[in-house]
Amino acid sequence: MKIRIDKLLSNLGYGTRSEVHKYIKNGYVLINGEILKDQGYRVDTEQDIIVFDDEIVEYQEYFYFMLNKPAGYITAVQGQEPVVMDLIEEKIKGLFPCGRLDKDTTGLLLITNDGPLAHQLLSPRYETEKEYVVNTRDRIDQDQVRRIELGITLGDGTRYRPAKITDIQNNSCHITVTEGQYHEVKNMFLAVGNEVVQLKRIRMKNLILDESLAEGEYRPLSEEEVHSLKTYWKAGHQAG
Ligand code: URA
Repeated sequence: MKIRIDKLLSNLGYGTRSEVHKYIKNGYVLINGEILKDQGYRVDTEQDIIVFDDEIVEYQEYFYFMLNKPAGYITAVQGQEPVVMDLIEEKIKGLFPCGRLDKDTTGLLLITNDGPLAHQLLSPRYETEKEYVVNTRDRIDQDQVRRIELGITLGDGTRYRPAKITDIQNNSCHITVTEGQYHEVKNMFLAVGNEVVQLKRIRMKNLILDESLAEGEYRPLSEEEVHSLKTYWKAGHQAG
């Protein structure tokens, strides 16, 4: 791919376009070993070796991070209150949270700039599985499980697809849902006369929360994780 060097460096978070122009002017940027003079130079991302301040610039179009979201953060890019993107140090252009967790929900959140993948993962058509650990106010009984597994319809007509409940232990269980409606898990339990007191997402499709990440910590996805997220989607897409 060919792209202007100032755009590339600015997308990767090296600075604004005008800051990048200054860096180029001051000789911070080398292309294939030569100090770059032309701020509009179009680099070939497959061929050119780009060095910024003595370090090789690894070009990547898309970035993927797994965040263990803490409670107290809104799932948004910016806002008045603390937002999840405040936790991400990399200032890569276009990063956003893929999907939405309530302010008090914790756990797995994918942060990426891969719009096409996010679109697929979030589209209800593709029925991306999301698994949560739920803690409830009251003991979870078989009737509640049966009703949630059949699919809940609220008084206002909102319908939730059948969910899958596993790992039931008194006041906790795992629930797997395939859509991403607002407050869906909380509303399902309210509809059957119980209440969610804690909610943590542990899986999205086949991406599993890395439990070694403390709340608020994040890490890049491994190549295998990115690949499997895409492959699995494609497999599901073909099957569907
Ligand atoms: N369902 C909810 O009720 N809240 C979340 O944050 C995610 C799913």
